[in-house]
Amino acid sequence: MSAIRSIFSVILAWVVAFSTVLFAQTAQADIRVSPTFAARGLPPGVLAPLTSKPVAAHAPFEAGECNLCHANSDPKQPGPLIKAVTPLCLGCHEEFPGMLKRAHAHPPAQTNCTNCHNPHNANYPKLLLQETSQLCTGCHKQVAEIHATASVPHKALTSGAKCLNCHNPHASEVEALLRQQPFDLCLGCHNVDTMVGADGKKLQNMKAWLDNNPDWHGPVKHKDCVACHQPHGGNQFRMLDGNYPKEFYAPYNPDAYDLCFGCHKEKAFSTAQTDKLTRFRNGAKNLHFVHLQQPGRGRTCRACHEVHASKQDKHIREGVPYGSGGWVLKLNYQQTPTGGSCAKTCHQERSYENRKAP
Ligand code: HEC
Ligand code: HEC
Ligand code: HEC
Ligand code: HEC
Ligand code: HEC
Ligand code: HEC
Ligand code: HEC
Ligand code: HEC
Ligand code: HEC
Repeated sequence: MSAIRSIFSVILAWVVAFSTVLFAQTAQADIRVSPTFAARGLPPGVLAPLTSKPVAAHAPFEAGECNLCHANSDPKQPGPLIKAVTPLCLGCHEEFPGMLKRAHAHPPAQTNCTNCHNPHNANYPKLLLQETSQLCTGCHKQVAEIHATASVPHKALTSGAKCLNCHNPHASEVEALLRQQPFDLCLGCHNVDTMVGADGKKLQNMKAWLDNNPDWHGPVKHKDCVACHQPHGGNQFRMLDGNYPKEFYAPYNPDAYDLCFGCHKEKAFSTAQTDKLTRFRNGAKNLHFVHLQQPGRGRTCRACHEVHASKQDKHIREGVPYGSGGWVLKLNYQQTPTGGSCAKTCHQERSYENRKAP
């Protein structure tokens, strides 16, 4: 019995060991990066001490005490390391073991600190093997590709601390190794009046706008800026996650509003007669349909709605810019007990009824 059990446990141990190898390999296959130095454009011997004048030097190396890490103290023959690399580093950098236990740790930092750092000295600050964005995109080629090919690139990737504006290279409590929640990151930069978009137009100060407009759109209420925007840039207007026309007037086409219709039902806009799909209707006449599907002058959502936040109900905007002089045509939208009305705006006062008087 005990012999059978021991054979069984040997088989079990073997199965476990084998499946660990197998899983390790599948996990490897899932990695969308090329972790070898050569694939990242790094030359052989990149971890050796530099002979040229370095920008950064590591205190224990500067002290000349090779044997803090290597077997010998002779700089000409330091010999092998006394421990595996990462445990060696963690032995002195005592805040790291705790940091790497955060909810999200960066795999290359868990596996080997020398994926990014030269242990002796380097041509880049913080002992880095490469300049920050090259370092990151050496493995994250997709992000490099997005940035290089996007018709609307995000300058946050190339200004200031670059990738590190938003990411922690080692570990974070926030998903995707973010330094803060995306909402706080976004508003931490989008809090000035001086930004200009890829199209040359001035960008709203989003922090001020949200502070002054208390009725926030659902996803903004959930602090989810990346529900609609691609953080690294993209090929849509304003780095949006789906199509949304950039013009004020555009012929109706459901594909043009992919972004909104990802969350709101398209039928509410393309059904001429309805008594339930939308409240923007006069009786059964769908006023969304009427406005959006005007031949030649279809109004886009922005003609009436603010997408981030508003003062008025239903995210109706206060006014629309008219002409190039900066004059704002007030919409004077009002909700009424039975529907709503717009006065002295794009047209004479018009009202609609979508329910019986209470
Ligand atoms: C803080 C720890 C540390 C100190 C101090 C240190 N080294 Fe190293 N050294 C390393 C690590 C880590 C590697 C990478 C070894 C590996 O991955 O196989 C390395 C590798 C090397 C290599 C081989 C590079 C290669 O291409 O594989 C040389 C040469 C070297 N060290 C020289 C020295 C000399 C000389 C000193 C003392 C003046 C020294 N090191 C001090 C950590 C250290
Ligand atoms: C013998 C102790 C010791 C070991 C082992 C050690 N370090 Fe350090 N490290 C230090 C000290 C001391 C400093 C300087 C701290 C400071 O300036 O606050 C430092 C600083 C650094 C810095 C910041 C450099 C800068 O320019 O600001 C990096 C990055 C770093 N170490 C990485 C590593 C890596 C990677 C390893 C493992 C290969 C490692 N360290 C192993 C002692 C050590
Ligand atoms: C994916 C690349 C990468 C890996 C892997 C990595 N680091 Fe770093 N490390 C960085 C970058 C980038 C910085 C500079 C951060 C900054 O300037 O904000 C840095 C900074 C540091 C610093 C200086 C901290 C400071 O605040 O100035 C230390 C110390 C350090 N790393 C140690 C380590 C240790 C120890 C490991 C292994 C457990 C490791 N790193 C693995 C990219 C990496
Ligand atoms: C040596 C290769 C390597 C380098 C260099 C590297 N990464 Fe990574 N990174 C990985 C691997 C492997 C993963 C995990 C697999 C994946 O999600 O693709 C990862 C995952 C990530 C993730 C996603 C984490 C998640 O939870 O979804 C982010 C964000 C990230 N890295 C940012 C960076 C930044 C910023 C830098 C530069 C400081 C960098 N990486 C440098 C290999 C690397
Ligand atoms: C403006 C802030 C910001 C900057 C700058 C930034 N990222 Fe990100 N990154 C994000 C956000 C937010 C996510 C999470 C996206 C999501 O959840 O859909 C993310 C996700 C990632 C991911 C994991 C998922 C994916 O999209 O592949 C990687 C890898 C990554 N970033 C790498 C980088 C690299 C490399 C750089 C620098 C070239 C960089 N990031 C610069 C905000 C940023
Ligand atoms: C490190 C600062 C920084 C962070 C963080 C940041 N941005 Fe930006 N963003 C910029 C800069 C710089 C521009 C380009 C404006 C300029 O150069 O004046 C920009 C442009 C934009 C644009 C307009 C793109 C165009 O050209 O039409 C949008 C939309 C945008 N950011 C959204 C976001 C979102 C969403 C987040 C959070 C995930 C975010 N930003 C985080 C700095 C930042
Ligand atoms: C429901 C989708 C959605 C969400 C969520 C969202 N945005 Fe937007 N964002 C848009 C659309 C659509 C535009 C284009 C608006 C227009 O031109 O009418 C835009 C435009 C922008 C612009 C450029 C504004 C300008 O003046 O042209 C910035 C900056 C921006 N968003 C940042 C953010 C930030 C920061 C967050 C999170 C607080 C966020 N967005 C959340 C959809 C969204
Ligand atoms: C990521 C999902 C998402 C996207 C994308 C989205 N919305 Fe919304 N929207 C919501 C949620 C959630 C609500 C809140 C619904 C509620 O409170 O019943 C909402 C509410 C609204 C309301 C107000 C409804 C009310 O009853 O107060 C308007 C108007 C609106 N969205 C317009 C738009 C426009 C225009 C777009 C495209 C630019 C868009 N939405 C894209 C999720 C989204
Ligand atoms: C001509 C102005 C106008 C245009 C253009 C417009 N809306 Fe509206 N929308 C309204 C008004 C007014 C309401 C409020 C109806 C009510 O509750 O009385 C409304 C309500 C909504 C609601 C709340 C649910 C409902 O249908 O009652 C959503 C969601 C919405 N609009 C999304 C959109 C989207 C997405 C677009 C662009 C595809 C758009 N709207 C274009 C005026 C407009």
